[in-house]
This record gives sequence, structure tokens and C-alpha cells, in this order.
Amino acid sequence: MNYDEIIKKYKTPLYIYNVDKLLKRIEYLKSIFSTSKLVYAIKANSFIVKEIEDSIDKYEICSIGEFDICNKLNIDYNKMVISGVNKDKDFIERLISNYEINRYTIESLEQYKILDDLSKKYNKKINVIVRLTSLNQFGVSEEDFKYIINNHNKELMNIEGLEYFSGTQKHSIKRINKEVDYINEFIDVLLNECNFKIKEVEYGPGLPIMYYQTDEFDEELFLKEVNNSLSRLNCEEVLIESGRSIVADCGEYLTTVVDLKSNKTGNYAIVDGGIHQLVYYGSTLAMKIPHFRLLNNKEKKTDNYNIYGSLCTINDVLMKNVDLPKLSIGDVFVFEKVGAYSSTEGISLFLSRDLPKIVLYKNCNCILVRDRIETSNVNYPDYGCEE
Ligand SMILES: Cc1ncc(COP(=O)(O)O)c(C=O)c1O
Repeated sequence: MNYDEIIKKYKTPLYIYNVDKLLKRIEYLKSIFSTSKLVYAIKANSFIVKEIEDSIDKYEICSIGEFDICNKLNIDYNKMVISGVNKDKDFIERLISNYEINRYTIESLEQYKILDDLSKKYNKKINVIVRLTSLNQFGVSEEDFKYIINNHNKELMNIEGLEYFSGTQKHSIKRINKEVDYINEFIDVLLNECNFKIKEVEYGPGLPIMYYQTDEFDEELFLKEVNNSLSRLNCEEVLIESGRSIVADCGEYLTTVVDLKSNKTGNYAIVDGGIHQLVYYGSTLAMKIPHFRLLNNKEKKTDNYNIYGSLCTINDVLMKNVDLPKLSIGDVFVFEKVGAYSSTEGISLFLSRDLPKIVLYKNCNCILVRDRIETSNVNYPDYGCEE
């Protein structure tokens, strides 16, 4: 990748998503989870959705906005799982009346009722999976799950299985084993009490990414342990819901040093990006150093720096107390492993800074897929907007 040319052409701050790397990552995950299907949770990064269409089995879509993105990209309806809380009636009606969606998830009795009513109204058979709660606002209780199993209209609602997701960035195989045991116990309950066999389990293991230089973790060993654990699930088919682990590695965020200063507390470099565009799970005021590179700096002398972004808040710290070659204005940092959630979850409207351009890097070429977007219009009180 010729970074000099890319920076000259697209400027910083900039996200680059390396599609070749992403496709290799998916192949790697598929080689480990060889008997499961892969469902990509598009909330992690909506810009690479089309690029992976041939490589993944399904997309987890959690809002009207996410559906509209996939629809505009002509994603096959047969790969869409319409998921998430607050699937309102208008949205579901639009889908049921117009498209052959692969499946819907049921997150509550209200959602069950909406899907039940609409499948009857349009006399259309729909496939669903029911999300079992992990004791938070998501999914249904065991009692509600049983109610749905016992009362659903078998002609029009095909319950294909169960969904379970309890959180992201999970490192503990013990916790995953416990969840698998719990799911298996509940599958037995449904069989014994409702005479209902769960065919598929769509499970989100919350596979982790090691964001910091000091993290020690044998990822391959962990993924193999997760695969062993999932092989114990008492069902015909396992689908792995994942976002972070699929896309994190393919993304880089480029940001340029725009100012340098020193005071009694140390040396400060201000970059043109910031924490509104860079999300590291669990980051607490840059106490840990993420994976990064500094481009083209050949200085032999080093110094200790604090790297701050362009937001007017003391929280906008990217790295603290980091030893680096002596910095100059114009030096560019490349922050790595930022393909997941940075462009979708960042507090990007803060301070009305522009949203960065986004470039896909594919077969040695760059493709601009989002131009720079001004956010001043979004933060502007438009007194005339009612007219
Ligand atoms: C239901 C569900 N599935 C999957 C995911 C993806 O999680 P991760 O990025 O940890 O793989 C999320 C993330 O919030 C989720 O809510």
C-alpha cells in the first residue's frame, strides 16, 4: 500500500479498510469454525457489507437504517436476518409485504405479536428464531419463549431455532462453556415440556480482539476451544454471529500531527483525528498503548509524548506516555485493528468535525466509498426546518 499517495489524495483523518485482508480473515475463521455458518453483524462496519457477500452466510441487520444500507447494496434477502430490539410494525410490514426475508428474530412478546399478525394479514409464511434473554433488556424469558413455542401458528410461522448473545469481547472459554451448557439445558426443557426440537442455534460468542500492545492471548487456541464448545450444542446447525472478530483487523485509521508543544507535564502532539473516530473496546483514557505505526519518520532521537486529538476535551487522548522518534508536524500515525465499530460507534458528531473519508483497499487499488461529510448541518439548529 503506498501510504504517501493515499494521504496525498485522500488527506487525513482517514479510514482504510483492506478488503483483501478481510476476505482472508473470513477464510481463516471459516477454517476454524468449519461446521458452523457465519452471520456478520453489520453494526460493526457497514462499509464492507457488499465485499463479503460471497464469503459469509447471513447478515444480522438490527435497524431500518441497516436494512436500507443492505437493500441499496442489493444484498440477497435470503441472507438477511432482521434482528434487534424495536422492530416496529411499520418496518416489519414494509418487509413482509415487499420482500422474501430469510428470517426475523423475536425479541419480545410484542415482536411476536407483530410478526404473528402480519404473517396472517399477508398470509405469508415467515421464518423466525427466538432470542433467549441473557438477563438484560434483550430477548425473551424462558416462560415467554415457551409461550411462543406453544402458541405460534405453525402454518405461517416457522420457528427455526434460538438466538443467544450476551456480550462482546469475551476472553473466557469458561464463560462460553457455561453459556453453551445453559442453551443445551434450555433446548432439553423445550423438548421435554413443549415437545419442540430446536433445529438451529444462532450464537454470538462475542469473539475478542487484542487491541493493545501488552495484551497476551493465543487467539487460535481460543477460537479452537470456542469451536469445540459450540460442537456440543444440541442442534442440527450452529450459526456464529460475529462483528468485531471479522472486521477489526482489516481497518486502519490515519491521522496527522498538526501541532506540537511541551509544558511541565510533558510533550504533547495534537493530531487531526481523535477519539470521536477511534473506538477501542475497554479503553480508559489511553492507559494502554494500541497497535500503531508512525509513517516515514526516520528520526534517531526519541522522546516521550502524549498524543491528543482535535476535540476540545481532556478525554481526547489517543496515547499517553509513549516513547516515539522525535515528532514533526506532518507525521502520520496509522492506528491498526480499527475495522470494527470505529466508523459506526464513535461519538463522531462531537465538536462538529467533518466525518472522515472512507477508502476500501482492494487488489492494490483504492476505492473511495464515503466522501468527507460536514456535520455542522446536523448540529445546526435549523429554525426553518418545519416549513
Ligand atoms: C445480537 C448481537 N449479535 C452479534 C453482535 C456482534 O458482537 P461482536 O462484534 O462482539 O461479535 C452484537 C453486538 O452488539 C449483537 O448485539
